[in-house]
Amino acid sequence: MLADDAMDCHVLVIGSGGAGVRAALEAAKYGDTILLSRTLTGKGGCTTMAEGGYNAVLRAQDSPALHVQDTMEGGAWLNDPALVEVLVREAPERMRDLLAWGAVFDVTEGREIAQRPFGGQRFPRTCYAGDRTGHEMILTLVEQLRRSDVVQLQEHVAIELLKDGERVCGAIALDRKNELVVVKADAVVLATGGGTRVYDISTNSASGTGDGYALGYRAGAELIDMEMVQFHPTGAVYPYDARGRLVTEAVRGEGGVLKNALGERFMERYDPVRKELSTRDVVSRAIAREVLEGRGTIHGGVHLDVSHLPSHVIEERLPIMLEQFLRFGVDIRKEPMEVAPTAHHIMGGLRITPECHTTLAGLYACGEVTGGVHGANRLGGNALADTQVFGKRAGEAAGKGGRRSIRIGRGQVEVQERRLERFYAGDTNPAEAARQLRLLMWEKAGIFRSEEGLLRARREISRLSGLIPLASSRHSLVECCTLENMLLLSSLIVEGALLRRESRGAHMRVDVTQTWGAKDSSFGHTVQSLEGRKIERRGA
Ligand code: FUM
Repeated sequence: MLADDAMDCHVLVIGSGGAGVRAALEAAKYGDTILLSRTLTGKGGCTTMAEGGYNAVLRAQDSPALHVQDTMEGGAWLNDPALVEVLVREAPERMRDLLAWGAVFDVTEGREIAQRPFGGQRFPRTCYAGDRTGHEMILTLVEQLRRSDVVQLQEHVAIELLKDGERVCGAIALDRKNELVVVKADAVVLATGGGTRVYDISTNSASGTGDGYALGYRAGAELIDMEMVQFHPTGAVYPYDARGRLVTEAVRGEGGVLKNALGERFMERYDPVRKELSTRDVVSRAIAREVLEGRGTIHGGVHLDVSHLPSHVIEERLPIMLEQFLRFGVDIRKEPMEVAPTAHHIMGGLRITPECHTTLAGLYACGEVTGGVHGANRLGGNALADTQVFGKRAGEAAGKGGRRSIRIGRGQVEVQERRLERFYAGDTNPAEAARQLRLLMWEKAGIFRSEEGLLRARREISRLSGLIPLASSRHSLVECCTLENMLLLSSLIVEGALLRRESRGAHMRVDVTQTWGAKDSSFGHTVQSLEGRKIERRGA
């Protein structure tokens, strides 16, 4: 493929989860837009799997100030306040967009949008469609997409961003047939979602391998707070194949109670006031401690019980949970689920402004691939709102950018051709290397971290990065590129975790004796880019 054969558009959006589709819909108002997606549109990513809800201030008894405060406190004051303000202010409006497009959310008897309590929030502000909220959103968004002029390149995997001088101006991808495709664009929006598939146990779909972090980093963008990985407290524990699958926070929001194998409601010891509705970092560590100290179930989890709730509440509000556990042989109307923490969300990511500009000209980003909105720990329900608020903003900002005459040096395509060629002479089974990496990350860069473990992870990642993944045929080229992205993402997480010599939010350094609280911490963001790594001082 030569650069002269490139496709052309005004805005290229990479990623077709909630943020990507929202961005594409908006960008299309300003010019030709291409949505390039690793999966079939709307079938991959995390939005469609997000169960519990969407946070929005909708009631007079609630307030934007309270939502901001909850988000900052939950994020251990590492959040970028300007991004939080935007999230909170615009979440209700973006919710109304979804409703106008036909999304069906649950309503109260008075026909108002129903809201349920989620952890770390002083008002029950999480709107929902049963326990399939993200799915309802993505169906709605994809229907809008179908009616739009957005051109969809489905099952295309972006393998590198293209640059014209210092400006991002498109991407190179592998198409369904594993042929190289070049897309030139006046502006590119990264909306590739997260990457917790680098952990052995994860809620993410198979596409959650961190492509966007790697694309952005290699192009020269700044990433912040990559060490901030959220472990959702409640993932399925068994059967083995279902390990890590999300057990929505809505279960606790509806009154679910956590008990250890001794029958103790242990959250009373870790957060006597909020108990099960404490923030996710606190609940995850509590569950992990109970298990580590021998009070877990035989499968290595704890019990999550809703059997005291009327059956109709479970059937109406948690139908997916009911169905999922029935398939596992557990009737949650009568017996408890077994759950344990699972890697869920990366709070760090590309540094953005409220208009979703990254630190690179021509490159915008939205959704989980960005950092700063959620600080050191995200509140449940804030991610779906984030996809819509910043998806719209990114699409709009990219769309409003000027037209350019783009020159792509042939060399950039040739570099990728050589990269792929090298895989045919590789020396390592990529699936095996990825398996080793996932175990390593779970053990050494998981819920509890220490310098010793992180240094071991650094060494192992460096060893694995020195191997060349083997493409046994054209069909494994994507797997080889994906492994490289997973290794890069893992190293960003580990390096961030080494830089941050404090415990904050989801990042727990067991080897650091800490005399300060999160609010008084002098540490700001960790920053990583091709230029180097550092931890910023707060207020500097
Ligand atoms: O637990 C959940 O339903 C997940 C929601 C979220 O991560 O926001």
